[in-house]
Amino acid sequence: MIADVIREKAEIINREINKYLPIKEPKGLYYAARHYIKAGGKRLRPVISLLSAEALGKDYRKIIPAAIAIETVHNFTLIHDDIMDEDEMRRGVKTVHTLFGVPTAIIAGDTLFSEAFDILTMCDAEPKNIIRAVKKLSRVCVEICEGQYMDISFEGSLDVTEEEYIEMVKKKTGVLIGLSASIPAILFGEEKRIEEALWNYGVLAGIGFQIQDDILDIVEKDKIGKDWCSDIKEGKMTLIVIKAFEMGIKLESFGKENASKDELERDVKRLIDCGAIDYARKKAREFVDLAKKNLDVLEDSEAKRNLMEIADFLIEREY
Ligand code: IPE
Ligand code: IPE
Ligand code: MG
Ligand code: MG
Ligand code: MG
Repeated sequence: MIADVIREKAEIINREINKYLPIKEPKGLYYAARHYIKAGGKRLRPVISLLSAEALGKDYRKIIPAAIAIETVHNFTLIHDDIMDEDEMRRGVKTVHTLFGVPTAIIAGDTLFSEAFDILTMCDAEPKNIIRAVKKLSRVCVEICEGQYMDISFEGSLDVTEEEYIEMVKKKTGVLIGLSASIPAILFGEEKRIEEALWNYGVLAGIGFQIQDDILDIVEKDKIGKDWCSDIKEGKMTLIVIKAFEMGIKLESFGKENASKDELERDVKRLIDCGAIDYARKKAREFVDLAKKNLDVLEDSEAKRNLMEIADFLIEREY
């Protein structure tokens, strides 16, 4: 089962990650920076990197620092994202800014962002390939910022199109998953066509992953360990909301920070009943199917089959 593969690979990361991200002085900063790392998370991005290395027939141990660097960047984006989205819960614990305050959360995020590049250089790879990986990580981080900016600038702007939404989630979420899948190809100096295929696989699967994240925000109250209906209260233009508005649906809690549970529940029912959630599910499936086609360039192996299955997991998961 893919869930077992994910668990087994995530444990490899969990055994290693604290070595790369220790608590140092001043402790207050590092407690804040390590708060989400300690709380857990699915570790999907580093798991994808390890599987991708295996699918290339390589020793994944050589690129563990790259996998951890990507998880470190991910955790940095989560800290800043929670400030932007004004969320209180993440990974079943209080958000960093809620516990430590916004100023500390900002520098805790900055700390992780900076550490990630140093960790990446610890890979057992040729220096020229490490430089290529560093450049690519830098590009990806810039694109995440662009995507996150689009996300906040779309808030409450009702004329956002489906194409604009896809461009936004590709940048804020897709590219980091694209890098997770392709960084082993960069570090092991694989042919460009292999690197590009793995990149496209990850980006497309990542778009599906974000659509599923938007669905879970609405339909899963308890399992996700995050605030429920945060996107509706923030006025986020998700694919679900874009579709519902297109159908003339009105939402009473959209953009309303202090919306009550009853108001939110009525909106959730509207979004389900109008078919907008099903529409988003269908779209997520289309992206994942496209993603998987890119793996045709790889020879058949257990790791390749796991990459196929993990893409399905990204949109079938309930947490
Ligand atoms: C959450 O990512 C942020 C998004 C890009 C949607 P994950 O769902 O992978 O979060 P963790 O790492 O498992 O907590
Ligand atoms: C997050 O999107 C994307 C990044 C962190 C870059 P969301 O804002 O939907 O993520 P969650 O739902 O808070 O995890
Ligand atoms: Mg958020
Ligand atoms: Mg956000
Ligand atoms: Mg979300």
